[in-house]
This record gives sequence, structure tokens and C-alpha cells, in this order.
Amino acid sequence: MRKKILAANWKMNLLRDEAFHLYKEIATFSDSKEIFIFSPSLYLSELSSIDGPKIGAQNFHFEKFGAFTGEISLDQIASCGANSVLIGHSERRQIFNENNEVLKLKVDAAIEKDFDIIFCCGEPLEIRKSQNHVEYVIEQLKESLFHLDVLQLKNVSIAYEPIWAIGTGLTATAEQAEEMHLEIRNSISHVYNVEVADSISILYGGSCNEKNALELFSCPNVDGGLIGGASLKASSFKEITNALYGLH
Ligand code: PGA
Repeated sequence: MRKKILAANWKMNLLRDEAFHLYKEIATFSDSKEIFIFSPSLYLSELSSIDGPKIGAQNFHFEKFGAFTGEISLDQIASCGANSVLIGHSERRQIFNENNEVLKLKVDAAIEKDFDIIFCCGEPLEIRKSQNHVEYVIEQLKESLFHLDVLQLKNVSIAYEPIWAIGTGLTATAEQAEEMHLEIRNSISHVYNVEVADSISILYGGSCNEKNALELFSCPNVDGGLIGGASLKASSFKEITNALYGLH
């Protein structure tokens, strides 16, 4: 059966001490739950020395080492105690021009190093308005992810994040989230098989917060969340965790 997963994407927020304290607070309620904290990479080493949820990097270069000024490799991330990465976040796609081809290289590099991957997909507003959102998102998955074999896919979770909902306060409705999650699951079933489709966790992201989490997580094909803004406050993130794990 697929796992419930909650992931915090801290993005380029929090100073070192703030990150340290927030992580410690999250550690007080993360026990026995599948929680990932995607911290700024600078802090991974220090966070890995504390007992708490899994930590991961928000970005990396697909090459193993070399003359790539400003970049970090998967081996470097692993040497700081993290074995998880986000790939395909819309901010990487839009601001840093990462296309499906580059994302495929990143997926392959992370699989080779046995990292856990949360692979993000999602459509911009104009695609949603033109009603081509399902085709658009499935194409993203086909071009960067669906070349993996069944065994390789075991390390992968998918996060559906409609771009128009990220950081905007405009959440997808539970119906919109469920529709896309079901389409994603059906496409996995089509490319692989039903068992594989049933084993992959599909998270929702985009202005998910303590107020709307329960409704979103109640959808049969929503297995958790990728949380940005609301993960920067321990009390909000705790409520979202409780919504997912049903501990009210
Ligand atoms: P948000 O960000 O929750 O602030 O909308 C989500 C994300 O970008 O992963």
C-alpha cells in the first residue's frame, strides 16, 4: 500500500538558527511518520546531526563533480546526511529554465545514487484555462519520469502542484486535485500496471495549509502534501500533519 507522506519545502527562507529551531519543533511530532524537510542545503549537515524527520535538498546538479561553480552534487548532499531530493519544482522549471530533458537527467542521477525523489509536476494558469491541464501534466511525467523501470520507481513519489496555486493562496479545490491525482494514477497504471499505480504516493502542493489540508487529504487519490509557506510555522505544519495522520 502507498504511504502517507508530508514534505516541507522551505525554499530560500529561514536563517540558520531559525531552521535549526523549526526542525527541532517539527521533530517533536514527526515520530513514526513519513515526513521530509527540504531545507536550504547549507543547513543539511547540521540538521542531520539532530534526531528528526528525513531531510533533503531542494536542488542539485546531475553531474557527479567538476567545474560547475555554485552547484552541488548528490554525493555532496549524501555526505551531509541527506538522501532525498525535490526534482521538477515549478520554480526550478520557470525561474531556472529546467526543462523536461534536464529533469530526466536529474531523475536518472538521483536513481543511480539511490535517493528518494519527490518529483513535481503541474500546469500554469493558461494551460488550466485552456482545459489542457491533464495532457500537460502527463506529458511532464512521460518525458522525465516514465522511462524508469518498476524497481527504480520505488524511490519516487509524485507531487502535483498547479503553478497557479503555489504561494498565491489560491488552492485547487478538492475536486480539481482529485481529478488530476486520479489521472496521474491512471497514467502510471497504463504505462506500468495497477499494482505500481497503487503503490506510488501522489502528494498535493499549492497553498495547502492548516485550513484546507483535511479536505484535500480526504480525497482518495491524495496521499499527502508538499507544503511551502505553511511549513515555515511549526504550529501550522503540526496541524497539517495531524490532518494527514488523523490525530486530532
Ligand atoms: P506553497 O508552496 O505551499 O507556499 O504554495 C508549495 C510549493 O511550492 O512546494
